Order: sequence, then C-alpha cells, then structure tokens
Amino acid sequence: MSRNLSVAVHRGALLHFLRDPGDGSDPGAYEYFADGLLVIASGRIVACGPASSLLATLPDSVPVTVHRDALLVPGFVDSHVHYPQTEVIGSSGRQLLDWLADHVFPAEARFGDPAHARDVARVCIDELLRNGTTTALVFGTVHRASVEAFFAVAAERRLRMICGKVLMDRHCPETLRDSAESGDHDSRALLERWHRRERLHYAITPRFAATSSAAQLAAAGRLAAEFPDVYIHSHLAENHAEIAWIAELFPEARSYLDVYDRFGLLRERAIYAHCIHLDETDRRRMVSTGTGAAFCPTSNLFLGSGLFNLDVGDAFGLRYALATDVGAGTSFGMLQTMAAAYQVAQLQQQRLHPLRAFYLATLGGARLLGLDDRIGSFRSGREADFLVLDLAATPLIARRTASARTLAEQLMVLMTLGDDRAIRETFILGEPAKTRLPS
Ligand code: GUN
Ligand code: ZN
Repeated sequence: MSRNLSVAVHRGALLHFLRDPGDGSDPGAYEYFADGLLVIASGRIVACGPASSLLATLPDSVPVTVHRDALLVPGFVDSHVHYPQTEVIGSSGRQLLDWLADHVFPAEARFGDPAHARDVARVCIDELLRNGTTTALVFGTVHRASVEAFFAVAAERRLRMICGKVLMDRHCPETLRDSAESGDHDSRALLERWHRRERLHYAITPRFAATSSAAQLAAAGRLAAEFPDVYIHSHLAENHAEIAWIAELFPEARSYLDVYDRFGLLRERAIYAHCIHLDETDRRRMVSTGTGAAFCPTSNLFLGSGLFNLDVGDAFGLRYALATDVGAGTSFGMLQTMAAAYQVAQLQQQRLHPLRAFYLATLGGARLLGLDDRIGSFRSGREADFLVLDLAATPLIARRTASARTLAEQLMVLMTLGDDRAIRETFILGEPAKTRLPS
C-alpha cells in the first residue's frame, strides 16, 4: 500500500455484515475478526481483515490505533426518528392520538423559530452520535426552518442524514398547519436546496394520512414522481383508533396502506414507520412496490400500540429495519432498541438472534434506505462511519462479557446491558465525533 498521509488504521475486534444473518446459522452472512484491522484513507474504508495478514501490507510508519476490550462495528442507522420530539421523550399519556395532541403538537409549534430549531437539532444530533447512530431518517416539523436547521447542523458534522418537512394541512392546531400549495412549495424549495448536497437527502414527509387532505397527498405523490430518488417518509398502521379514523376519512380506500397507494406514495425509498396492523394484501403490496417498514419497538411498547410481527414480515419478504421513533420511543440508543425488539419478538414466541439485531441496526438499516453502497458495512469503498463498542463499559458488562463463550453471546450482553456508556467512540468519515458529556 502506498504511503498516504491521510491513512488511519484501527486494530481490534471487528464485526460487519454482508447479508441478513437470519437465525444466525449462516456463517457467510458476516465477517468477524477477533484481531482485525480497519484501514481508512480519506474517510473511506480501504481494507478490513485479519491484522496478521493486513499489517504486512502497510508501511511501518503508519500509526495504528489499538482498541482493547472493544468491538468495532459500522455506525448505527436509525430508520425513523423525530428530532423535534427530543424534548418530549418520556411524556406519559394515553395512546397515540391523545399523546400527539397533549405533548407533540405543543412542542412542535416552537420550531418556526430558527434559533430554537438549531438548538434542538444540535442536542438531537449530539445525542444520536453519543449513542452510535451515524445516519437517520428524520422527521422535521411543518416549518421550513426546522429542516433548514437540521440539515445545517448535520452538514457541519459531515453526517449522512435524511430529513423532510412535515406536510400537515388538517386535523392539527392552526399554528402547525400548512396548505396543499404551501406544503408543496416549501418541500420543493427544501428539496432543491438540500437533496444530494454533501451527504444529505430529502424525504417527502406527510405526517400520516389523518393530517393531510387528499389534495395534499396528491401533491406529495406528484412531487415524488418528479423526483424519483427522494425519499417518502410517513406513518402507517400504528394504532387501532388511528386506523379506524383513517377508514372514516378515506372510505373509498381498501386499507390504510391503500390510501398511500392511491396517491402514488409506495415505492423504493418509501419508508413507513410502525406497520403493525397490516393484512396479507397490504404486506404483498409493500413488497411488490419496494416499500419498507421502520420497526419501532420502544415506541410501540411505550404507546401500547402493538407488536410488530417479525416472522410474518419475513415470510412475505418485507424489508424492515430498526428505529427509535423518539419521542414516542424511549431511547436514542440502538442498543436499547435492539433489546426492545428482542422482547417484542419474545412476546410473540418469535426469536430475534443477536447477530440479526446488529444486522438490522447496521447493514439492514442501510439497505432499507438504499444506502448500502455507501454505509452500513466495512466493505472497501464505504464511508468510514463506525463505532468502538466498549466491552468493559460497566463493571457488569465487563464481568458478563468475560464469561461469554461466543460472539452471539457477547452481542446479546451488549444489547441487553448496553447504553451510551457502551459507545466508546463514534467515527464519522474516519474522524472521532462522539460528543462527550461534561465530566
Ligand atoms: N403518527 C403521526 N404522527 C406521529 C408521531 O409524531 N409519532 C408517532 N409515534 N406516530 C405518529
Ligand atoms: Zn414517528
């Protein structure tokens, strides 16, 4: 390898995925190097493999950062989060619709103020990085300023992020309401300014079918058709009262999913949060259109919405990944999200193998977002967003890890006991980026 001043080399245990490991029995689904080397040049992965063979290819002068009691994995991907809800996390209430009215709408009303939006965007992004999340699909609010603020902070931190302005022209407070025309105009302006700028992408973001008129959903569908590479991001089939309301509002639609389908909002890069209460026709239609689901276990438990059915999703070939859904979600951490996903599976007599949980939080998330050619693994050429997980983060984690006999057991310990203390460092494009709390 030629001498290159921007080469960085990290040595430690490494894990990344090549495909879905399913029940964990497919050894070809991942690569694990107990003593591995990650070679990075100009912010991209150049090589990943056993230290014993790779070290010999490097000039002696290249410094090697050694990570002890650690596991290096690609950065986590959160496939659905609301940055403006950072400050309402943990707001107790009733179920979805009351919780939205009581806690979410009042908090979101403040995001017309660019200074407030910038402040919360910083807090949210710091929190994501402290928890090891390097890419997320993010809701703004109805205000254009909210998305401007989020993208500006994400660009400052050189992050790969997806965000969009909420479209919401009915059934919400006056101060949070746009119109079919203004929503379309603002989305278009944001998309033209930010989509594909640096590492940023735009998502057309109708909040959910209840808060958009048919005219607004139709405009969203037209915008999506005009820009085939932008994302579509919304909510679907989360809660029984919500579903009954959608049926009243759109009596002509066969199902909740069919509302979005009628307006041209199902396709590749269309991601719907929750997808709990679907029928066979819905699941088939999601798969045939390439539409994906964000599985939000902590949120679904917190709001009592229901249990996402992993086995049925898998049987249909539904593409899904993990998401926090903060502020209904109770943690920014993907480790805690994996633990909740495991519990949601258990409650249905299903099994989420720890390798699969880590897959869903890394390459699975990247694949859901169509970004697996850029992030989500240590394949050469990928962007070097990665984490150093601390196997001795707490006395209990250290003690329990010491007795773990397999990689799967070690991962299970991390996802059961881990939180932001287990994220020793977060690297963005090869540079350290974790925001440390003042000690
Ligand atoms: N459905 C519509 N809006 C929201 C939201 O902000 N959070 C959740 N969990 N579901 C929603
Ligand atoms: Zn949500």
